Parts: sequence; structure tokens; C-alpha cells
Amino acid sequence: MLNTNLDTIDSLLHQNTYLDNGKLVNWDGKMDEVYSTISTSSEYKPTLLGTVPHMDEPTALAVLNSAVNAYDKGKGQWPTMRVKDRIECMKSFVEHMQTKRTEVVKLLMWEIGKTLPDSEKEFDRTVQYIYDTIDNYKQLDRDSAKFEKTDGINAHIRRGPLGLVLCLGPYNYPLNETFALLIPALIMGNTAVFKPAKFGVLLLSPLLEAFQKSFPAGVINVIYGRGREVAVPIMKTGKIDVLALIGHSTSAIALQDQHPYKNRLRLILGLEAKNPAIILPDADLDLAIEECLNGSLSYNGQRCTALKIIYVHDDIKDEFNKRFSKRVDELKFGQPWEEGVKLTPLPEPNKPAYIKELIEDAKEKGAKILNKKGGTVTDNYIYPAVLYPVNESMRVYQEEQFGPVVPIKSFNDIQELLDEIAKSNYGQQVSLFGKNVDTLAPLIDVLVNLVCRVNLNSSCQRGPDVLPFTGRKDSAVGTLSVHDALRSFSIRTFLASKDNPHNNDIIRKLLESKTSNFVSTDYLL
Ligand code: G3H
Repeated sequence: MLNTNLDTIDSLLHQNTYLDNGKLVNWDGKMDEVYSTISTSSEYKPTLLGTVPHMDEPTALAVLNSAVNAYDKGKGQWPTMRVKDRIECMKSFVEHMQTKRTEVVKLLMWEIGKTLPDSEKEFDRTVQYIYDTIDNYKQLDRDSAKFEKTDGINAHIRRGPLGLVLCLGPYNYPLNETFALLIPALIMGNTAVFKPAKFGVLLLSPLLEAFQKSFPAGVINVIYGRGREVAVPIMKTGKIDVLALIGHSTSAIALQDQHPYKNRLRLILGLEAKNPAIILPDADLDLAIEECLNGSLSYNGQRCTALKIIYVHDDIKDEFNKRFSKRVDELKFGQPWEEGVKLTPLPEPNKPAYIKELIEDAKEKGAKILNKKGGTVTDNYIYPAVLYPVNESMRVYQEEQFGPVVPIKSFNDIQELLDEIAKSNYGQQVSLFGKNVDTLAPLIDVLVNLVCRVNLNSSCQRGPDVLPFTGRKDSAVGTLSVHDALRSFSIRTFLASKDNPHNNDIIRKLLESKTSNFVSTDYLL
């Protein structure tokens, strides 16, 4: 177990089991070491945190089989269970989960370098997400607790599960985003195989027992290892009904391509984005600067919702650039648990070199680093560079940097800028800064068709989790939110009966005897 001092790792966490068919099964094969890029010694040295199983294809397929059996083609105990009983399992899970907050928060900091307040927020937000999901599911159930009569047919319409879900989450929100897929998938009656991301893997260990104790055997199964070695063979079997993935489109496409029955495979994907900020000449600059600072650099810019390019109007570009760059240089870099720290070690060891490449490429093509500290490389970090002027030929313009570098491009003609944003491969969100209603109105009317959330005078973000989270083009497939996710992971299915005394008598008996888990007009409180 890890101790509770946030700044030291006293003992290693050897995760030598995986969750299969309700059991924590010992893995005695190859193990992978898990390192943190955080160093606490005077000379830089990544910190060993523990080990996880390097699972192989036969084991992954055996685990898949557990999920297959638990679903049993829709005949299993879990997919046919009463809603209220599935809710009880979920409640038991979230109660267990809350007892593990300290350990999970500490691991979030060490594994992915997220600050203490943000790690705590990730945990608490996830717990809240689970409670909100339970409440929403109850409401969904209440809304379905009736018969609808149309053209002489009585219909009892509910939402049923889709089948087997392969769930893969991202490293930047290894708890929240993964659970935002897994929790609605499970509560709707699907069974799942879940593989944690490469970084942010050990933080799931404290929760394995909660999964094991709260759900029937085979409903949730957890595997470890490389995507190529375990996820690809699982997809090849054709037994997966839903690929739920938050990450890069290359991984999503590679996995989809393996599935032999593509028409059967449903996709719920949160993918890359390059959300722009547009600063109009009448924008409140103090506000725009603070929002862009937070939007582009909170968690070092490693958020799919991060502002990844800033478009500033020619009339105010000099003022904006000067003041924005000064604010960037005021951001404090340090260990995630230090007070007031905004920038923290990057979990991917090769990230500083990648960001450096983007900066050098931009410089060669005419951009300058505006801030003094910009581009300073240390062992596990590269200080955010504010790059200006950026143009379409630069890699930092084309690629989703997912790290600490802020490209700025100026504009004069807003119509040209709209054309440029319309050409982008991404379509998640935009931040729009300005106040004149006559200018804003036509922009909002177009931008809502280019992206899926226009943030007025604020940075982009996913939350609150009750709001729809989705994207156009390469940025997403399907919609997530507490409400939408329940729908994304289910399908409408119903009992229909002709309205005649014979059938109505049967329905009445079905309801009175409470023998069916599906046919019920009980009102879940
Ligand atoms: O990585 C993308 C996350 O969904 C962003 O969530 O906007 O709450 O940081 P956030």
C-alpha cells in the first residue's frame, strides 16, 4: 500500500491480479513496471511506482469470455435484472469507492502529474457523476413505467442493454472519463471488459475490490497490457457490441477495423480536438486573458477540451500578446502537491521533445516565442511557449499538441476566420470573446454548426457533466452527459400487445404478480 504522505512513495504497488468473472485472479506472467516522471531526488530520476500485468492474448480472450457468459446473449442475470437491483449494485460500488479517495488521489498525482486540487476534483466529480447517473436512471425508469396506446396497440417501452462493451479510457482523465463510459454502460445492463490507459493505471487498483464485491461475476472485467496484444484480439472475435473509447482516432480506427461484423459494432468515441478561442476587438481583455490562460494551460494543456489555438483580432493583438505572455510566465511549475502550482511534470517521457519539435518547426516557419521562459526544457517538462504569428504550414497549427504550447494567429476578417474553422478536421468546442450583440449573433449562428459547444466569454470545458459532451468531424462519435450516456449505451425495446380483453387481462396479471423484471409500472423513488 502507498503511504498517505503525498510527496513520497514508501512502498511499491504490485498489481499482480486482474479482475475476471468476479475474481481477482493471480497473474504470474510478465509484469510491466509503472514509472512516474516525478523525481524527488536531487539528480533527476523517474520514480518506480509499481508493476501491472503484461497480459497476453489467450488470457484476454478468456476474460472476454467471462463478459460473454455474463451477458449470455441478453439472457444473463445482469441484462435481465430489475432496474432497482442494478442500482443497488451501483450504490454499493460508489460507497466502496469513496473509501479509497486518498489512495486514488495520490496515485493520480504521481502517475499523471495532476495537481492535488485537480486530482481531488477528478475523484469527487466522478463520485458525483455516479450518483447523478443513478438519479437519472431512476427518472428514465419512472418515465417508462407506463403503457402507451396507439392505433389499438398498447406499448410498454423501455431501454435495454446493447451487449458487450470494450471500454478504453484516456490517460489525462483516467478515472473520470473512463468511468463516464463504464458506469452508464454497466447500469444499463451491458457487461464490460475494461483496459486502463498506459498512464494512470495503478490508480484503478484500489477500486478493483469494489468492482469485485459490488457486481455479479463477469459483469465488469479488468485487463492490463498493450492494446495491440489484448484489445485487438478481443475486437477480432466480433463479440464486442460497443467500442467505448476516449483517446485518439488512430486507436479507434485500428480497433474498429478488426471487427468482422462492422454493422453490429456501435461506437461511442471521444477523440482529438483543437478548440479555438476567438478574441473580438471589443472583448474584455482581462477576462479573455485569464480564460485563455486557464483554457490553454490547465493540466499543461493535456485536455481534449483545451484551447489549442488562439485567434486574436489585429486591433488588439499586440496588447493581448504582451499581457497574455506575461501571465504565462507567472505560472508556477512544481510538484503536483505543492501549493499554488499550475504547471506539473508531463507524464509522457517523450512529450517535452515532441513539444520542442513543434516549437522549432514553428520558429523555422516564422513564429517567435513571445514569453521569456517559453520552451525551456527540463527533464520532465517544457515551459509553455507562446508562439506568434502562427500559420497553416506549421505543425503546431495542424496537430493537436496536447501539451504546453500556445499558438496564436491574428485575424482581420471574421468571415475568413469562419471559413478557416469550417475547414478544420476538428469540431468539438470554441470560445468566443466579445460583447456587441450584433457582431456575436451571426457568429454564434454559424459556430454552433461548426462545433458542438460555443463558450461565450469563457474557456472550453466538458463540465458540468449533465451538459452534452460531443463533437463533429474527427472529434467524437455519440454524445455523452449523465443523461445522454444512458441512452448511448442502450436501445429502445418494448412489449406490444393488441388492445383486447384477452391481452389486457394478461398484462394486468403480469403487473400485479410482479413476475416480470421488464414489465413494471412501479414508481422507483
Ligand atoms: O480531455 C478532455 C476532457 O473531457 C476535458 O474535461 O473540460 O472538464 O477538463 P474538462
